[in-house]
Amino acid sequence: MNQTFAPGAALRGTLIPPPDKSLSHRAALLGAMSSAPVRVTNYLDAADTRSSLAAVQALGALVDERPDGMIIRGPGLRAATPGAHIDVGNAGTLMRLLPGWLAGQPSGSWTLDGDASIRRRPVDRIAAPLRAMGARIDARAGRLPPFTVTGSPLRGIEYVLPVASAQIKSCLLLAGLLAEGTTTVVEPEPSRDHTERLLARAGAGIVRTGDRVTVTSQDELALDAIHVPGDPSSAAFHVAAAVLVPGSRLVVEGMAGNWTRVGFFRILERMGAVLTGDLEERASAAPDAEPLCELDVAHGPLTGTRVTADEVPLAIDELPLVALLGCFAEGETVVEGAQELRLKESDRIATVVDGLRGLGADIEATDDGFAVRGTGGLRGGRLAAHGDHRLAMLGAVAGLASREGVEVLGMEAAAVSYPGFVGDLAALTR
Ligand code: S3P
Repeated sequence: MNQTFAPGAALRGTLIPPPDKSLSHRAALLGAMSSAPVRVTNYLDAADTRSSLAAVQALGALVDERPDGMIIRGPGLRAATPGAHIDVGNAGTLMRLLPGWLAGQPSGSWTLDGDASIRRRPVDRIAAPLRAMGARIDARAGRLPPFTVTGSPLRGIEYVLPVASAQIKSCLLLAGLLAEGTTTVVEPEPSRDHTERLLARAGAGIVRTGDRVTVTSQDELALDAIHVPGDPSSAAFHVAAAVLVPGSRLVVEGMAGNWTRVGFFRILERMGAVLTGDLEERASAAPDAEPLCELDVAHGPLTGTRVTADEVPLAIDELPLVALLGCFAEGETVVEGAQELRLKESDRIATVVDGLRGLGADIEATDDGFAVRGTGGLRGGRLAAHGDHRLAMLGAVAGLASREGVEVLGMEAAAVSYPGFVGDLAALTR
């Protein structure tokens, strides 16, 4: 479906962003791994997170969707249904986290596969450390989906992550719950810590010291209720639009304020955006809570900035928006240390650079990111989403801020994480 986003309309009003995708995936998985039923409120109803619910159901969980929330009755930590074909759809997080749980099951063999985008996303990044723990994993060409995980006895290891990735970290922490001894993951830079916070709440022995996270073998998990806050990665699109379109004033309510998720808003502040909010400070982070926050954003001028490797994991899914903002900023905006973008739902260095250049941006790709020279505006044109939800929404925001509007080819991709995106935008620009 192609859709055109015309320039001009300011955003005014309050946005309640959709529930967080990362936390919804984890709520489904950890809910299913828990011994007692877990009540999940504000679970994201989108394609990616429906894949997670279908996966845990195939593994023996009962999912009871009620108007006031959802009850997940899991098979528990060590009793996943032995053997199933799991379709992860477009969900990289499901594909990378689930094998951590399956690898340590007492018996069974599971095949994981997904759509065309998933089939080009590597799983060797989880397969190698899981194998070092004793896991049995067979992947196409040694590194790609479809792949099969066979339950085996696991032993704890210490693993230094070659890249800052919450998906790899989370996979190994889940496997560590089932492994003999202790499992330690060492991060090059901090990445989102939702798995750690949920495991702490579930009573698991999990300790963070500096860049090391250690988990010990568990008999069971005991989570009672999980409330999923609003998704900062989804809110980021409307916030960027409000910053770019003159006359805008937007309030965002009920958004996750977790400091490992709000790096984009810190970058925006540094670029000079008119933005206030009670984002979590790193020093004040409670080990087991997911704070909510409110933002107040208005249109204003921007200056270029340099985003460095340590900031990248804290804003990884919002970096395409940094490129767009850079087009409007004074001076140069550079993102470095972000080669991981090449392994997302599309190669987001290539698709963002080609997409924005097609709209008139002065942008070039580098090996590990991109460099944009701000020209004060963007002409507009057509942008292909390449089946990537964040590209589709980037094109829509670019259209609102452009001189001539943008036609997004493949707008339906937004439904992977934000089915109500166009409706929310229409409500704010009415
Ligand atoms: C996610 C982690 C990130 C992010 C993805 C969701 C998660 O991936 O890009 O959209 O929920 O753990 P990596 O940690 O692999 O970079």
